[in-house]
Amino acid sequence: MIRADRARIDDFLHQLSGIGRDPRGGFSRLAFSPEEREAHALFRRVLEGFGLRTFTDAVGNSQGELTGREDLPALITGSHLDTVYQGGNYDGAVGVAAAVEVARILAEDGGLRRPLRVVAFAAEEGARFGAPCIGSRLVTGAYGADTLKAMTDRDLITASAAAEAVGLRPGEAASARWDFADVQCFVEVHIEQGRVLEARDRPIGIVNSIGGSTRVELVFSGRADHSGATPMWLRRDALAAASDFVIAVERRARAHATTVATIGRLDVEPNSMTTVPGRVLLQLDVRDVDSERQRDLAEALLDDAVRIAGGREITVSARRLSDQSPVVLHGTMQSALAGAATRRGTPFVSLPSGASHDAAHLATHVPTGMVFVPCRDGVSHSPAEHADSARIAEAVDIVVEAFRSIDAGERV
Ligand code: GLV
Ligand code: MN
Ligand code: MN
Repeated sequence: MIRADRARIDDFLHQLSGIGRDPRGGFSRLAFSPEEREAHALFRRVLEGFGLRTFTDAVGNSQGELTGREDLPALITGSHLDTVYQGGNYDGAVGVAAAVEVARILAEDGGLRRPLRVVAFAAEEGARFGAPCIGSRLVTGAYGADTLKAMTDRDLITASAAAEAVGLRPGEAASARWDFADVQCFVEVHIEQGRVLEARDRPIGIVNSIGGSTRVELVFSGRADHSGATPMWLRRDALAAASDFVIAVERRARAHATTVATIGRLDVEPNSMTTVPGRVLLQLDVRDVDSERQRDLAEALLDDAVRIAGGREITVSARRLSDQSPVVLHGTMQSALAGAATRRGTPFVSLPSGASHDAAHLATHVPTGMVFVPCRDGVSHSPAEHADSARIAEAVDIVVEAFRSIDAGERV
């Protein structure tokens, strides 16, 4: 019954695995990097290979279109091709590989009434510039050219400069906005990045909601001093203050089952064994499925930071990098995908997504659904990430089935 071709999915992922290998392990195809662009070029080449027209917009989102028989709003599927630092080859890539296979199957069948668009969003990972889903926020108009100028990476390169350096035109960001009157619905296939599907022994997940995140950069500034000549009572150690803060974050986040909070980046200056740390920059990522709890926790942690710093004669400054509310995905899209899975005899579970996705941004504009496939041991954002193409193929078949049904008139 499975129609999607595993070998073609494997082949796309294999070709992608030649791009952006990090000598330290895994893949670093960072947002707005030459490696990300190379991956987008591969995506376009493959689509053009079976007759789709493709283009890349001013900010680096790439698309291919299979013409519809009628002038109707498009069905869209896709995900992203960038990675975190030393990530895996499946986060985002699986959804793009699935989209390519959906397009191939429908192209071989002569297309649909509606146009099919497949998309690879640019810069989904927040790892480089702090804010996630930059490409999808640009197509919705939530971000614009000015936003790209205000974000910097760890080398203080702005997103705008990085995009320009790889040949994009960030100043023309407004031209990348989509006209949502032309869009019927959006579906993103993605690896689960958790362990629920494996634990429940289900090949497919249908996502009901996507957690939100509030991301804040804090800088603790103390005084760099000689590590031998400065007695403990005279120190203003920025790392000691930051460490108190790390523990406060863990303690507060543990207070509620759906809350997670992480400090995944910590830059210590001067980061030298014989100098008391004078400055620490850290990035805090607070997530929840409850937007009030998410924002209240971020506020409470900022108060903690001020209190901790004050007690140590250290100053602290904070700047918000990104703030995204949790999103409930459209019931009609969940039903369309569940109906497709049921007709195909594929068992599934309905589950929330803790990770952020481009789908969350499209969901405020068009009916949006997500299909999860399991990833081995739930590992993600790691070189050990792996997903089985048999599962990806099942997801492809469900998307094809759901698209056919929507094309034939199922309401979403
Ligand atoms: C995207 O992978 C995220 O950080 O949730
Ligand atoms: Mn992803
Ligand atoms: Mn990711």
